[in-house]
Amino acid sequence: MKIGIIGTGYIGGTLIKKLNQAGHDVRISDARGIHLIPENLKDSGIQVVEVTEVFSDVDVAILSVPLVVLPKLVEAVKVASRECVLIDTSNYYPSRDQKIDAIEDGKVESIWVKELLGREVVKAWNAMGSDSLARLGTAPGTPGRLAIPVAGDNSEHKRVAMQLVDDIGFDPVDSGTLAESWRHQPGSPAYCTDLTEKELEDALGTAVKSRLPARRDIAVEAITERFGGDGTNPDAAYLVRLNRALFS
Ligand SMILES: NC(=O)c1ccc[n+]([C@@H]2O[C@H](COP(=O)([O-])OP(=O)(O)OC[C@H]3O[C@@H](n4cnc5c(N)ncnc54)[C@H](OP(=O)(O)O)[C@@H]3O)[C@@H](O)[C@H]2O)c1
Repeated sequence: MKIGIIGTGYIGGTLIKKLNQAGHDVRISDARGIHLIPENLKDSGIQVVEVTEVFSDVDVAILSVPLVVLPKLVEAVKVASRECVLIDTSNYYPSRDQKIDAIEDGKVESIWVKELLGREVVKAWNAMGSDSLARLGTAPGTPGRLAIPVAGDNSEHKRVAMQLVDDIGFDPVDSGTLAESWRHQPGSPAYCTDLTEKELEDALGTAVKSRLPARRDIAVEAITERFGGDGTNPDAAYLVRLNRALFS
């Protein structure tokens, strides 16, 4: 498939490499300018294009930036065709993003994104840490294969996103509509806990929405204390241990 990606950080950079390795035709950009794209992402046929062009003539458009950056990308998204599958990896962290009243008041993060962008959105790759995503993918059918939740309101768009999750080494789990996608927002038992398909389905079912913000903020505090708060991502072992302990 032809896939455009904005965001070349921990998650976007990992998706770029893995989707390219899986044989997809990947083109990438950076919201602040292509001069900021890391050199190691410019090989193996990956095209680097301006942000205004990256979603032109693609089957799938992926946004992988902090949620607070999304309002700057409304025009870039308008370039995508109506048929294009738009996937967003973002999560809301008020300590990193500015506070967004609607989300603070309980609006589901991806509903806020859908309304902002004015089109269908699939939520995927938001609930696995970057270290796990980069290292722990396996072939279909491998015992203990890890799973990733995918939510959306358009069943065909969700099917495409689930296929891409499978292509890069993980069992896709249909987590329902966007309205249900809070079940894998930060602070939920499904968030960055590295679960298999059955475990993930159980975790999605046991989430309690009112408990998410406090658990999310405790996790941020622990990671900041341990890693210094400079944005360095924790390794998979630490992140999964921390989150599983919070949700036990
Ligand atoms: N890290 C994880 O383990 C993880 C897991 C699941 C989901 N997520 C979510 O996925 C999204 C991306 O996360 P990430 O960890 O990959 O982030 P990241 O490493 O910080 O990368 C973010 C990307 O967004 C761009 N960006 C950052 N601040 C910007 C600004 N003010 N204006 C324009 N562009 C800006 C960066 O571009 P520059 O090159 O210009 O800095 C970079 O390409 C976030 O919403 C995050 O919550 C992260």
